[in-house]
Amino acid sequence: MCSTSRPVTTELSSSAEKLIRGRHATRAFRTDAVPGDTMRAIFSLAGAAPSNSNAQPWRVEVVSGAKRDRLADALQAAHARQQTTADFPYSEEMYARAHQTRRAAFGAALYGTLGIGRDDHAARAAYDAESLRFYGAPHAAFLFVTGDGGARLAADTGAYMQTLLLAMAGYGVDSCPQGLLSFYADTVREELGVCEGRLLVGVSFGYADETAPVNRLVTERAPLETTTTFHG
Ligand SMILES: Cc1cc2nc3c(=O)[nH]c(=O)nc-3n(C[C@H](O)[C@H](O)[C@H](O)COP(=O)(O)O)c2cc1C
Repeated sequence: MCSTSRPVTTELSSSAEKLIRGRHATRAFRTDAVPGDTMRAIFSLAGAAPSNSNAQPWRVEVVSGAKRDRLADALQAAHARQQTTADFPYSEEMYARAHQTRRAAFGAALYGTLGIGRDDHAARAAYDAESLRFYGAPHAAFLFVTGDGGARLAADTGAYMQTLLLAMAGYGVDSCPQGLLSFYADTVREELGVCEGRLLVGVSFGYADETAPVNRLVTERAPLETTTTFHG
């Protein structure tokens, strides 16, 4: 029997839900590299991301191997010199009270998993500095916003980022988006010879170290009603 209406595919929606809910930020990786053909498949799938008028205003730089090691060293050195160069301004003031409450809960859960106390600022700072080594991931992708690098184009690049994270999850590759990496934009540019774009975020990726307690961190989400209104 023919039907012109689209069938309701519960199988597809449940696998989509599995993919979306199954993605988590990974903060401890094994050293195994992602095979080259898997890498190409992932980044080509990520390119299916939507963007305003299909402008695709992103530029992606992926590092692995010796280049990745050199960049990690350079990032740590820049951090030690306190040489931050963020292309996108950052301020604690940008967060509303509700955001701050969620951030505090997240911080307490993360550092709690690591056994770092609430007021142990030195240990927290050391952990953050170490994260510039991509949490041990063998690869990192840097997402630059091209054009004028303004808010709308950055939003498109954010859509690309989430599509990339899901593409990785679909191929069994674990990831961590790291805004902290974007605080060292000049270092990334210099090491990778990049001339175009503003650095929005870095994404460390590879295969999770399943034995690391930090990878068992569970993050909550705000209830639907607090973020979404259905009109009509
Ligand atoms: C734009 C962006 C920047 C982020 N920056 C960092 C970061 O610098 N370091 C880090 O460990 N996690 C970072 N994260 C991961 C978030 O902490 C994580 O996505 C959030 O706590 C929700 O947890 P989940 O991804 O496991 O669902 C970032 C995530 C996004 C989307």
